[in-house]
Amino acid sequence: MDHQNLLEEKTISMPRIGDTAPNFQAVTTKGNIQMADFAKDKWIVMFSHPADFTPVCTTEMSGFAIRKGEFDALNTELLGLSIDSIHAHLGWVQNVRENTGVYFDFPIIADIDMKVSKLYGMLQPNESETAAVRAVFFIDPSKKIRLIMYYPLNVGRNMDEILRALDALQVSDEHKVAMPLDWKRGDKVICPAPKSLDALNERLADNSVEKVTWYLAKKDI
Ligand code: BEZ
Repeated sequence: MDHQNLLEEKTISMPRIGDTAPNFQAVTTKGNIQMADFAKDKWIVMFSHPADFTPVCTTEMSGFAIRKGEFDALNTELLGLSIDSIHAHLGWVQNVRENTGVYFDFPIIADIDMKVSKLYGMLQPNESETAAVRAVFFIDPSKKIRLIMYYPLNVGRNMDEILRALDALQVSDEHKVAMPLDWKRGDKVICPAPKSLDALNERLADNSVEKVTWYLAKKDI
């Protein structure tokens, strides 16, 4: 069945940026959870991988595990998912721990009935009908989806970029600013463009910001 038919039959959905993260109940390596259970002051990074015991996925999941402390520092819970059984997940977690010492210390959903992957548009049948693509959903404390990444089966994600994007979202919210190309902590941020002539005149007179032109100004935070 092609993707359009699946969408029309409502067997899969495609959440978008700005939507409330759909609720679900799921079995994970840390017990049963639902989206609504996550603490109301936490961000969530929810990510899917195509299959346990596969090479690219092992590097990616190890990346999340090794850098979990950086997600903790950004007040963020990790939540993995694949269309594998809980037994496969446990076997893989233990296998990677035995071979490399890296422990996947975050819940991984066993989405064997594909309910959650369909709900989140992680099952993209023209890429694979049986495996989830490499999706990343950034969900804020109000449970709103703020950023979505999709990668195909054959290309691993970039952990620096996942952490950078999460940090950028949080700093943008905190300071009511936007982030320029390649922004990273310590760089200048973009002041919102003026929306009236008064605001424009104010901007032109403001020497505390770096003005490239009237609608592009940067400042330190
Ligand atoms: C991998 O993680 O290596 C992989 C998984 C599914 C399809 C292709 C590659």
